Amino acid sequence: MRWPAIAMLMMIGAAAAGGREGREGGGGREALPTSRGDEIVVSHPRQDELVVLQEHANFTITLSVGGRLKVPLHGLLVLHLNEDRIAILCPKPAEQLEDCPNGPTEEGDGDVEGNGEKCKEFSVEVGGLKTAEYVLTVELVDVLGNPIRIARRHFNALVLNEIDESLPPHPVFNVIIFSMDRACQLDQLLSSVQERIVNANSSMFRWQVLYKFSNKKFGDGYRKVKKMFPWVSFHQQSNLSSSVTSAYFDMFVAEGGDAKSFKGDYLRLVDDRSPFILHFVDDMVVTGVWSVQEQVFAYRLLSLRPDVLTVSLRLHPGITRCYATGSDRTPPPSFDPEMTWNWMNMMGDWAYPMSLDAHIFRTEDHARLAMALQYMNPNTLEGQMASFCFSGNSACPPRMSCYREAKVINIPANRVQNTFPNRYMSDAPSPALLNTEFLFNRRLITKHLWDKTFDTVHVPQPLIFAVGNLQHEMSEIVREPGDDSE
Ligand SMILES: *[C@@H]1O[C@H](CO)[C@@H](O)[C@H](O)[C@H]1NC(C)=O
Ligand SMILES: *[C@@H]1O[C@H](CO)[C@@H](O)[C@H](O)[C@H]1NC(C)=O
Ligand SMILES: *[C@@H]1O[C@H](CO)[C@@H](O)[C@H](O)[C@H]1NC(C)=O
Repeated sequence: MRWPAIAMLMMIGAAAAGGREGREGGGGREALPTSRGDEIVVSHPRQDELVVLQEHANFTITLSVGGRLKVPLHGLLVLHLNEDRIAILCPKPAEQLEDCPNGPTEEGDGDVEGNGEKCKEFSVEVGGLKTAEYVLTVELVDVLGNPIRIARRHFNALVLNEIDESLPPHPVFNVIIFSMDRACQLDQLLSSVQERIVNANSSMFRWQVLYKFSNKKFGDGYRKVKKMFPWVSFHQQSNLSSSVTSAYFDMFVAEGGDAKSFKGDYLRLVDDRSPFILHFVDDMVVTGVWSVQEQVFAYRLLSLRPDVLTVSLRLHPGITRCYATGSDRTPPPSFDPEMTWNWMNMMGDWAYPMSLDAHIFRTEDHARLAMALQYMNPNTLEGQMASFCFSGNSACPPRMSCYREAKVINIPANRVQNTFPNRYMSDAPSPALLNTEFLFNRRLITKHLWDKTFDTVHVPQPLIFAVGNLQHEMSEIVREPGDDSE
């Protein structure tokens, strides 16, 4: 479901302002006095929440209306879900205008129940939600339908049985991010995850970073980035807490595997309860929005089609070159209706399913290999996986899939010309320099890369730091919907 750009901007504005509900003056109409008691506050769903529902279950909307708000003569307090009016509350659910009590009445004794600053709380049960994006609008309107107060909530619903009966209550996507000496770029990646992956911070995802550093300064970088992303679990290589474990790790150790090895660390993070696994490396950036519908597409495809090995977030039909092999002619394949192709006949990145750059695998398939192969770091892990799934190996599903646009790119920082808005560097900054900048509170931005289309999956791009409090200024430009009338 697509929303007009303006509506999206308004919702983003509301989110940036902490979801505060305001008043919306209807074109020159008399506005009620602003006070704490004259707002409409939606407490459930939260802004941008991912609501996970069992099929046929009801969904409860909870809101409170300030005691000072009055429903004027023949006015209404109504709820809309997208375009549909789902309930009239004034103050009790009423089908008819005549059922609504008439106003106006004395101060503190409005037609909406409650007195003084007290609020009246409403709960509304809604059935029949589908897996989709929704906008809830609560409106207090006058007799002509002009809004006096409006509150909005954007949320996504995920209806379980519609997708997969066996979907477990655990995170659907287990994401493991590898990082070494690059807290600054890890911050850039995690910021882009937060901004571009819808519901990244929800029960859909589990985010884990497996990091290592070569000196104390780099370690300080990780201490800093840890504090900035409380929804991510950080694990230092060779120093994982013993409470972090998995069925695969237990099997590995029972078979005599070295619990202290990289393989041991890695297997602790491979969660047997999450059906899908994907990886990021710290020099990647999420550039395209990965919507709930697209997330659902990926796990539906991987659940239903055993011939598909992976869904790639980095490939898209515009990829025609391969940076890694230096090949200029790696044209895209012809796709079936579900955007899958046979990778065994292809060239370059189109023929490379086992990437750790945001390729989604079934945990079961991936873990079987991760248990059997020998590796001592992320590079050899990927290398071993890639050598196993060579063209012609019938043990590997022959097809892979991607989206129509890139969701991620990899910035090979060693080849980057780096631009700082206030100074220019002819050399690529070393990890040490980037780390020092980061320790001085400077952060790399990604907005200039959003929705850009490139013809390779590795894209040399400048690393750009925010100038001063640029990010702060940008969030202030986005206003909330009601501000015009103030
Ligand atoms: C859902 O809500 C409707 C209307 O309030 C009610 O009749 C129905 O029993 C509810 N269903 C469930 C499963 O709670
Ligand atoms: C992530 O979600 C948790 C719980 O829903 C919330 O407390 C936290 O503030 C969220 N963090 C971010 C960065 O959105
Ligand atoms: C291992 O982790 C603990 C707890 O986070 C920390 O105090 C300790 O310094 C770490 N050890 C090394 C060698 O970094």
